[in-house]
Amino acid sequence: MSGKGKDSLLGNKIAAGLLTAGLIFWGANRIASIVVPSEAPKTPAINVPGLQTAAAPVVAAAAGLESIIPLIATGDVAKGAAFVQQQCAACHTLTSGGAAGVGPNLYGVMGSPMFSGSFAYSDAVKDKAKGNWNYDNINAWLAAPMTFAPGTGMSYAGIKNVQTRADVVAYLRTLSANPLPLPTADEIKAATAAPAATGAPATAAATAPAATAEAAPSIDTLFATADLAKGKALVMQQCAACHTLAKGGAPGVGPNLYGIVGAKSFSAPGFNYSAAVKGKAGATWTDDTLSAWLENPMGYAPGTMMAYPGIKNAQTRADVIAYLNSNSDKPEKLP
Ligand code: HEC
Ligand code: HEC
Repeated sequence: MSGKGKDSLLGNKIAAGLLTAGLIFWGANRIASIVVPSEAPKTPAINVPGLQTAAAPVVAAAAGLESIIPLIATGDVAKGAAFVQQQCAACHTLTSGGAAGVGPNLYGVMGSPMFSGSFAYSDAVKDKAKGNWNYDNINAWLAAPMTFAPGTGMSYAGIKNVQTRADVVAYLRTLSANPLPLPTADEIKAATAAPAATGAPATAAATAPAATAEAAPSIDTLFATADLAKGKALVMQQCAACHTLAKGGAPGVGPNLYGIVGAKSFSAPGFNYSAAVKGKAGATWTDDTLSAWLENPMGYAPGTMMAYPGIKNAQTRADVIAYLNSNSDKPEKLP
């Protein structure tokens, strides 16, 4: 046993420790309240029509995210598997005992401790490793990895369509000798009843997954405000790695896109299209069909080789289509 002197010394140390901790806590709170305004501005400073409010993507993406819980039981495992093969398998192995690649092996990931496999995880995800992967946290992670864990090593834009996320997770759960149980009726009820349970701010409505590919509204009204320069910049950045755009350009990973608006779909001579799009070949690319394709290539032609998640913002699609239309000998008359 320790003597009295040591005890009171220990007492002093504890008191000093508590005081220091208190000061640090107080200081941190002060700093946080200075750095982070407690309330978002009521109206965005700049209001560009058609541009989604880029000011609050973090809050909106996390809080307004539609739950996959009601969709898991009916999720299409085959579609999920095809999607994962196409978009994830370049970085992740899926078989039991598979080696880590660019990312960790995903066998048995559902229900397992987060970011805890044998893999050199980035620092960005280390403090997100709280508990096990469940239907809620995997939903948020796959919707927007960089929002979930800014700086993550998973350079993947995310899956915006809630049904696609559900299909992918329905598939991931099968990669296990002992799959995570499906959501219970009560959990489904809770998820359906309270989509805003996480305190979704009003702005979240803007990013709510209301318009899916199936019910995509026409973008006809958006060409009047289309910005060719923006469309061109996006195409150079996101499409030109796979597509040439100049007249007579050679096919790359994808076919040449000169004169594509108004052309016969999936019919460029000399390009070897995937079986997935053959059934859709020979129609005419209109602004509406191109819009549906570019919004969600995998939804439009499941299994397509075009490994591109799609352009969710309708005005951005209009910008891109207006630019593609201008890149032609005889541009079509857009609405
Ligand atoms: C470009 C490579 C890349 C792509 C594509 C990719 N991932 Fe990842 N993934 C990673 C990396 C790297 C990590 C580790 C994250 C870190 O350390 O920041 C990761 C982590 C994960 C984790 C967490 C695993 C664990 O051990 O807890 C899951 C789940 C996951 N990815 C699923 C997917 C799914 C599903 C897709 C496709 C829809 C996908 N990933 C696409 C690279 C990728
Ligand atoms: C990772 C490579 C890749 C990226 C990135 C990509 N594409 Fe594609 N694209 C393809 C492939 C491959 C096909 C052929 C689809 C098939 O055979 O399944 C295709 C087909 C197309 C078609 C149909 C062409 C035809 O002959 O009818 C259009 C239009 C198109 N892409 C536009 C775009 C636009 C616009 C972007 C950028 C917003 C883009 N693509 C990004 C690879 C890509």
